[in-house]
Amino acid sequence: MINKSKKLSVNLIKKFSAGELQELCKATEEAIEKGIGFSWIKPPPRQNLENYWKGVLAMPQRNLFIGSFEGAVAASLQLVFPNKSNEASSFSASIDTHFVSPWARGHGLARMLLEAGEELAYKSGFSQILLEVRKTQDRAISLYENAGYVRWGTLPAYHIVKEKAVPGFFYHKRIDRNK
Ligand SMILES: CC(C)(COP(=O)(O)OP(=O)(O)OC[C@H]1O[C@@H](n2cnc3c(N)ncnc32)[C@H](O)[C@@H]1OP(=O)(O)O)[C@@H](O)C(=O)NCCC(=O)NCCS
Repeated sequence: MINKSKKLSVNLIKKFSAGELQELCKATEEAIEKGIGFSWIKPPPRQNLENYWKGVLAMPQRNLFIGSFEGAVAASLQLVFPNKSNEASSFSASIDTHFVSPWARGHGLARMLLEAGEELAYKSGFSQILLEVRKTQDRAISLYENAGYVRWGTLPAYHIVKEKAVPGFFYHKRIDRNK
């Protein structure tokens, strides 16, 4: 998927091309420094990040979308399918590691990634998407709520950051009746 100005692109990837893994690690580190809102509080050693992203590609239920700004990797979104053993949740996919590096924000890349993830979920037969976000992530919250995600719950102690509990918001979206 490429946008009209050709500055932004989003691709579902199955393996990393030359330099892509390093660019993704760099973008992740930059986003962590600015408070990424999930997983890491401070950047882990580069090798750990590389192993993490390689592990994502090795897991069949994880679908990794990479977003690029002017040709450089700047963003990601995973669409996660339920495990095959989880028959009762077989209609429901979830979103993970949705971020854009600070230098590429405000151009629509996060929205493009979200739409690409929703499209894959719909085409793969899912009728619901779940996601969760820290209460402090204002941009992400307005993106999700504008995109039709409905908040169904709040967890008072979702993450501990700087020794303080930060609440988390939980969202769902039906995708069958929107298409
Ligand atoms: C949330 C995030 C992914 C948005 O990335 P982005 O590329 O700037 O977003 P887009 O340009 O696609 O904008 C999409 C929407 O985000 C919101 N947004 C973007 N910039 C914003 C700003 N400066 N202030 C408030 N909302 C903003 C708006 O709702 C916007 O929609 P609009 O353009 O129709 O107003 C990015 O800020 C980020 O990586 N944050 C840290 C990680 C995170 O919070 N992830 C969420 C899951 S934990």
